[in-house]
Amino acid sequence: TITRSDAFVFFGATGDLAYKKIFPALQAMILAGELDMPIIAVARAGWTLEQMRERARDSLEKHGGVDAAAFAKFSAQLKYVDGDYNDAATFASLKEALGAARRPLHYMAIPPSMFATVVQRLSESGCATDARIIVEKPFGRDLASAQALNKTLHDIFPESAIFRIDHYLGKEAVQNLLYFRFANTLLDPVWNRTYVDSVQITMAEDFGVQGRGSFYEEAGALRDVVQNHLLQVIALLAMEAPSGHDPISMHAEKLRLFRAMRPLDPKDVVRGQFRGYREENGVAPDSQVETFAALKLHIDTWRWAGVPFYIRAGKCLPLTTTEVIVDLKCPPLAVFDEITAKQSNYFRFRLSPEVVISAGVRVKKSGEAMHGEPVELVARHQSPHEELPYERLLADALRGDATLYTSDECVEAAWTVIDPILGNAEPIHEYEPGGWGPAAALDIVSGDEGWHDPALEETAPC
Ligand code: BG6
Repeated sequence: TITRSDAFVFFGATGDLAYKKIFPALQAMILAGELDMPIIAVARAGWTLEQMRERARDSLEKHGGVDAAAFAKFSAQLKYVDGDYNDAATFASLKEALGAARRPLHYMAIPPSMFATVVQRLSESGCATDARIIVEKPFGRDLASAQALNKTLHDIFPESAIFRIDHYLGKEAVQNLLYFRFANTLLDPVWNRTYVDSVQITMAEDFGVQGRGSFYEEAGALRDVVQNHLLQVIALLAMEAPSGHDPISMHAEKLRLFRAMRPLDPKDVVRGQFRGYREENGVAPDSQVETFAALKLHIDTWRWAGVPFYIRAGKCLPLTTTEVIVDLKCPPLAVFDEITAKQSNYFRFRLSPEVVISAGVRVKKSGEAMHGEPVELVARHQSPHEELPYERLLADALRGDATLYTSDECVEAAWTVIDPILGNAEPIHEYEPGGWGPAAALDIVSGDEGWHDPALEETAPC
């Protein structure tokens, strides 16, 4: 039987992630009545509990606002353990802070280089018994290190107690990809190589690395967003229907899909770096790290053989949006006006900042001629309370529900796809901030219709 965790522990409580995402999520969970348990912040900052409360208040003020009643509850439930992660005394204090709690959830909001130490100390102190653990990305930096990390975790925790967080999976719009596909009969008949010409995913950000230079130097776009967020999006777009909405069925279907992705060929990848990146704090003056990547991926299944999946992701691009375009093939004959591939049918899933699903179709313009124009049939998602991805995911982990988390096998299969293009084998192309990356990225889609421009294609309801 699946039991609820009875304490929420987070390591890295003075860090950036806690400040930006975790405190707002905890307040939202308190408001939703989902966090009636000790909340234990752990860090090695030499702070007092009062300073930690102030940090939380400050975080909430900057990210959505403080709810006085929820904050009072939060303050009363909050405990703070200060100490070095290498020191057994820190974990003895944690054990004491846990009090009567027997099934804590430990959240590793810390750099991966510290995972092994913390996991080991949790075990030695008895804090790992019947506990769950949430691990933040990056899950390794290539296949070999991901396997080593999984081994470190499995030495102490069973896979069913490990929750690898990919916050994209907590987004409503991302969940809607799977829902929309399998809650409608409309899509499935055309969702295959017979009708789909190509699929494009653009994740554009109009900002740079925002002071995270030294983190980014270790990552680059491929590790930061492609190996995880964007391959997950493709998995949801391309996988077969799971036999149920439970973690085992979901992970099994996703895994089949990840394993069918062909490991990337370096000639199908273009890496770019925005001009000015090398002047960022923490960035090497001759850095070869990519802030942009464009690539072509193949999925070797009966459904998708021959259909290219294009991915483009980058910093300092013209706007901030994540969008999927599924382009359908042209009708077999142009009976009426000339139709180019660009003007035929497509599905658009705009995942952020707005959540939009639309179908691009042609309708006849009024007049004697049988001439048409493209329009979009638009479904706009509106919700009075947009649940934060972290709120959703942390609440799921407390309940022991791993459906929206990533499994060990899926993580390793995704690395297998990316591994051949890591390192600096491919040259880096400089690009101007505010443009769509290096010109070479255009060659990735040559022979097809080019990249969709989300800026030009603002969704206009018909
Ligand atoms: C994070 C990456 O995982 O996702 C960031 O590390 C990126 O570089 C961010 O900006 C994007 O997520 P969101 O939810 O803000 O679109």
